[in-house]
Amino acid sequence: MQHISVVGSGTMGNGIAHTFAQFGFNVALIDTQSTALQRAIKTISNNLDRQVKKEILTAADKVSTLSRIVTYTNLNEGVKKADLVVEAATENESIKLDIFRELDRLCPEHTLLASNTSSISITEIASVTQRADRVIGMHFMNPVPVMKLVEVIKGYTTSVETTNTIITLSRKLDKVPVEVNDYPGFVANRILMPMINEAIYTLYEGVADVEAIDTVMKLGMAHPMGPLELADFIGLDVCLSILRVLYEGFGNPKYAPCPLLVKMVTAGKLGKKTGAGFYKY
Ligand SMILES: NC(=O)c1ccc[n+]([C@@H]2O[C@H](COP(=O)([O-])OP(=O)(O)OC[C@H]3O[C@@H](n4cnc5c(N)ncnc54)[C@H](O)[C@@H]3O)[C@@H](O)[C@H]2O)c1
Repeated sequence: MQHISVVGSGTMGNGIAHTFAQFGFNVALIDTQSTALQRAIKTISNNLDRQVKKEILTAADKVSTLSRIVTYTNLNEGVKKADLVVEAATENESIKLDIFRELDRLCPEHTLLASNTSSISITEIASVTQRADRVIGMHFMNPVPVMKLVEVIKGYTTSVETTNTIITLSRKLDKVPVEVNDYPGFVANRILMPMINEAIYTLYEGVADVEAIDTVMKLGMAHPMGPLELADFIGLDVCLSILRVLYEGFGNPKYAPCPLLVKMVTAGKLGKKTGAGFYKY
């Protein structure tokens, strides 16, 4: 494993590219939008500066990390040499299925295909390829260079060999991989999203205001961030789409997204990335 291609250069894609490059891998960072790629390189450079300031990396490490990342708007060019592709494009099932159909067609035979999806079935993603044994979930947490967890999701057809390769690789990135099976929301979001949704219902029903809800959870439960601030950080559109996957996947009304969340997403108040959500940025 030396050549890693990352598809999608948004919040997660730039962090995944940063982390692989920091640990010596050659990274092809791919996005359909060249402006997204430019923004990603700027973000990676700023985040590397922060690591240099904290003495996690040297100034020379920053230069060599950046030199290992090459950007592409053309998928074919970007995956030619890939040993592994990590897809981190928009959380939308049809976008992801199209990307995996293309990846399967374009990538060398040996290439493993991973998705960073928060909630879409790995088994379903694998089913549109001719290499279902080599498709897996590699769910990094935000911000990727900082957070230790990689939730490794085994689809119904993922081989033991693929799983073991991804576990070994995650450890090379100084991460802690945890193996889970492919059911809606996996583990992380199956537990996190109902909590965030309940916090939004608590606001919606007027039980308390935004700051009160977050303060209760921060000081009362020792959470580093309140659930509403965390929702802003993740992106309210991402939270809504994960809740819909849980709701549809389990057919259980307890996962129904709060109407306030739906309304905020419709209004374009998506959280930190749009400058406003439960808080203003
Ligand atoms: N935001 C989080 O905290 C978080 C955490 C864990 C996992 N995830 C998952 O990571 C994935 C990416 O989320 P994000 O928050 O980085 O999204 P984002 O909206 O910040 O970035 C998505 C990027 O994908 C690009 N894209 C869309 N279609 C594409 C295509 N066909 N080919 C190449 N690029 C394409 C977009 O231009 C955009 O730059 C999603 O599956 C999400 O569920 C997000």
